[in-house]
Amino acid sequence: MSEGNSMCTASEGWECVAKRDQVRPGSPLSLDSGDSGIGVYEVDGDLYAVEDTCPHGPSLLTRGYTRENMVMCPLHGAIFDVRTGKCLRGPAERDLRTYPVNVQDDDVYVRIVSEE
Ligand code: FES
Repeated sequence: MSEGNSMCTASEGWECVAKRDQVRPGSPLSLDSGDSGIGVYEVDGDLYAVEDTCPHGPSLLTRGYTRENMVMCPLHGAIFDVRTGKCLRGPAERDLRTYPVNVQDDDVYVRIVSEE
């Protein structure tokens, strides 16, 4: 069993947001970070981070239905690819912002840069 003693520090915009085992397929992590919150998803063993508030309205996508690389907004059913942020089905009219993710030891880092 891992001791989990690795350092968890922020640098150059990277924030340590979770332990790796906190994110599982179909069970994304919702972060109160960035401008619209951030959702972290696991797809095929890799992690992806996208904005968590739906571009169409006040709905958290991490509360929606997830399947493989897709998440469906729980409010009106827009579908997004969490690997790319691409909007696959409306009514949302734009893609999701994406954030770089890095895993070091047992820690998950997301590079959070505010939109200006
Ligand atoms: S709020 Fe997400 S599709 Fe309408």
